[in-house]
Order: sequence, then structure tokens, then C-alpha cells
Amino acid sequence: MSNLIVLVAVLMLLLFYITPVHCQYGSFTKVWNTSKGGNPVKGHSYTFFPLTPIITDAVNNCLVYRNGLGDGTFKSYLATVDSKQELDFIKLSWDPPTWVSGSDIRGNGHYSYSTGPQTNQPLFNMYTGQCFGYCPFNAGDPSLTPVGEKYIYMRGNNLQNAGVRYDALVMCEIQPISEVYIPSIGTNGGSITINNLTQFYIQTINITFSNQSKQLSKSCHITLKQGTSVTCIVPLSGFHNVTVQDASGVNSTHYLWKPYPPFIKAVYQSFTTNGLH
Ligand SMILES: *[C@@H]1O[C@H](CO)[C@@H](O)[C@H](O)[C@H]1NC(C)=O
Ligand SMILES: *[C@@H]1O[C@H](CO)[C@@H](O)[C@H](O)[C@H]1NC(C)=O
Ligand SMILES: *[C@@H]1O[C@H](CO)[C@@H](O)[C@H](O)[C@H]1NC(C)=O
Ligand SMILES: *[C@@H]1O[C@H](CO)[C@@H](O)[C@H](O)[C@H]1NC(C)=O
Ligand SMILES: *[C@@H]1O[C@H](CO)[C@@H](O)[C@H](O)[C@H]1NC(C)=O
Ligand SMILES: *[C@@H]1O[C@H](CO)[C@@H](O)[C@H](O)[C@H]1NC(C)=O
Repeated sequence: MSNLIVLVAVLMLLLFYITPVHCQYGSFTKVWNTSKGGNPVKGHSYTFFPLTPIITDAVNNCLVYRNGLGDGTFKSYLATVDSKQELDFIKLSWDPPTWVSGSDIRGNGHYSYSTGPQTNQPLFNMYTGQCFGYCPFNAGDPSLTPVGEKYIYMRGNNLQNAGVRYDALVMCEIQPISEVYIPSIGTNGGSITINNLTQFYIQTINITFSNQSKQLSKSCHITLKQGTSVTCIVPLSGFHNVTVQDASGVNSTHYLWKPYPPFIKAVYQSFTTNGLH
């Protein structure tokens, strides 16, 4: 028995020394900038923490990492992977399992993002197979068995579900605190509500969807302004940068906004089949 413990300890030491992540807290950081399809200079970055076998510790490590530290202009949270571009960027060459945002909190097959600005936004419906974010789940995942596997880790190009305990690393996402979050919507369009627009003068606010590659730019038609929230009708489908600004020049952009992936209802039991990549 004690031999086994020593073996495990040696293996864990090896894991830290042969991989690029050393034991220092948050020492390994990647910045997702525009040259790679991400955000400009003051954009998002990702910091990796070593083995953190309990999901709640993973979530908390990310929250304390930036929040309340430094000059208060950035916030951090367990990373929300919501596009292939983002996954391709953060993917590590050595593919360790890494906790990411998302849980089936009620245990009913409805996964939603569980951290960051996307908190409570839908991610995946296990029964219909519909994806609302980015859902490269492994075949057979997520699944309701074994019971309690309602959290998500990423390994290589795939997501898998796990219980509260799993030998995974942690990936925190860091973003400017003032960055707007524009919720997603189906490809048929409709209304979205953008919350927490505290930094803007709501009376003169406008919201523009633009796609540089096609030189398209259209306003999101505002139908309701209430407190610090604005509801508007999404003008275009596809990848866009969405900029919110007011007449005084205050502005913030959500880069690489996209609608939900197209959903084709299929007549298979989607909880045992992974039809979404
Ligand atoms: C963007 O990333 C590339 C590659 O990592 C780096 O060479 C470049 O300096 C970065 N640009 C900015 C503005 O940070
Ligand atoms: C709302 O925005 C302000 C400043 O832009 C930020 O400090 C605050 O954390 C945000 N609140 C939420 C719930 O995102
Ligand atoms: C979003 O803005 C960035 C930086 O200005 C740019 O590189 C990128 O092409 C834009 N993306 C779209 C879809 O317009
Ligand atoms: C928007 O730009 C991206 C590249 O940034 C491109 O792949 C996409 O097809 C464009 N979408 C639309 C609707 O123009
Ligand atoms: C949005 O507001 C800014 C600042 O008031 C203005 O420069 C811009 O032309 C407006 N855009 C649209 C599409 O109304
Ligand atoms: C957006 O805000 C920045 C400062 O944060 C400013 O330099 C820039 O001119 C603004 N852009 C517009 C279109 O008003």
C-alpha cells in the first residue's frame, strides 16, 4: 500500500517537472490577441494552475486570482470555452485534463456555463443534442451515469464530464472588468438583452454588429432600455465583433460573437450519440 503512495507521489512530481506548468501559482499565462483571432492588446488571457482535484477549489482559485488584486481593472474566472477559435488557441500541446466552466447543476442533462460573464447561459442539452455554446463533447459524454458527473473538463480537443473530484489542472480566464458581454442567440435571430451597462450613458447608447472581413456593419435595433440593461434585435447572423458605445465615446467590444450553432433535429438518442462538433 505505501509503495503505491510513493509511486503516485513520484508520478505527480514527474508530471510537474516534465511539463511546462511548474508549481508556481499562475505562472504560465497565454495572451489571446488579435493576431490569433482573439482580442486586442488588453484582451483575454489564460493562466494555468497545477493539479486541483476538486472543482470548487478550481472555481475559487480563479475567482481570487485577479478579483481584488492589482488595480481592479481585470477579473478572472474558470475559463469559459465558447468557440473553436478559443479552444484552438488555449489548447496545450501536452493535453492535460483541465477544468473548464460548465455544469449540469440540476442533474437533468441541461448544461450551462457556470462561471464568468456567461454564468447561467445555456451550453448543451443532453437530450436533444442542441449546443448553445461550443460543445465538442467526447462520444458518450455528457452522460447521466455515473450519477453526479455534472462538471466539465477539457482534454485536447474534447470536453468530458466528471464528478466534483478529478485529477485536472485549472485554467482561469482573465478579462478587462469593463468588457461588455453580448449573449448569443439562434441563427434565426431575435432579441437579446445586454445587462450591466453601468459604464455607459444609456440615453445615447448604440450597439453595432460588424464583420471586418465582409465590411458589414449594422445596428442592433434597440426596443427597450431599462436601468443598465438594453434589449435589441440582432441584425445579422455569423461571427461579429459587437461594439457598445455612447455619445461621449465610452465604448467596449465583445470580440468574436457568434450565434448558437445550427441545430438540426435528429431522430436518434442523442444522449448516447455525439452529433455535435
Ligand atoms: C500577439 O501574440 C504574438 C504571438 O504570441 C506576439 O508576437 C505579439 O507581440 C502579440 N501582440 C500583442 C499586441 O500583444
Ligand atoms: C458590471 O460592470 C461593472 C463595471 O463595468 C463591474 O465592476 C461589475 O463587476 C459588473 N457586474 C457583473 C455582475 O458583471
Ligand atoms: C474583430 O476585431 C479584430 C480587431 O480589430 C479584428 O482583427 C477581427 O477581424 C474582427 N473580427 C470580425 C469578425 O470582424
Ligand atoms: C465574419 O468573419 C469571419 C472571420 O472573422 C468569417 O469566418 C465569417 O464567415 C464572417 N461572417 C459573416 C456573416 O460575414
Ligand atoms: C453610435 O454612436 C456613436 C457615438 O455617438 C456614433 O459615432 C456612431 O455613428 C453611432 N453608430 C450608429 C450606427 O448609430
Ligand atoms: C473607444 O474608447 C477608447 C478609450 O477606451 C478611445 O480611445 C476610442 O477613441 C473610443 N472609440 C470610439 C469609436 O469612440
